[in-house]
Amino acid sequence: MKQTPPQGGVLIRQLHGIQSRLNYLPREELERVSEQLDIPLSQVYSVATFFTSFSLTPVGKHVVNVCVGTTCHVKGASGIVEYMERRLEIPLDGISDDGLFTLRTLRCLGCCSLAPVMKIGDKVYGHLTRAKAEKIIQRIRKAPS
Ligand code: FES
Repeated sequence: MKQTPPQGGVLIRQLHGIQSRLNYLPREELERVSEQLDIPLSQVYSVATFFTSFSLTPVGKHVVNVCVGTTCHVKGASGIVEYMERRLEIPLDGISDDGLFTLRTLRCLGCCSLAPVMKIGDKVYGHLTRAKAEKIIQRIRKAPS
């Protein structure tokens, strides 16, 4: 069984700090963390790519993750993804012109009873419809930054 390194908690905290500050994890920062904590770079990457809250590429302020797992797919997730691509005017993994949004998909958020589902930041939105997704996007756009 794979063991978590003793510095695992420190590593995750450092990665969260970088992600909050820069909105993604640049390679130079991962190399610096690797040296600082004396953890192989491959292990730092392993943690950085394990959690969906981390991104190795620049992203918008809000990452919209639409679940396309089996249950969400059956309940119409692809229609939500298409709507969001048109509404935000970005392809998957793109950044909106205003820098506010990145659209991504993921597979199963573990709350299939709420399908179709999307997650923005720490918040999960269930029983999604296009109208509901539209209201959520409008609310985020109107929120003070
Ligand atoms: S398939 Fe979407 S939450 Fe499980």
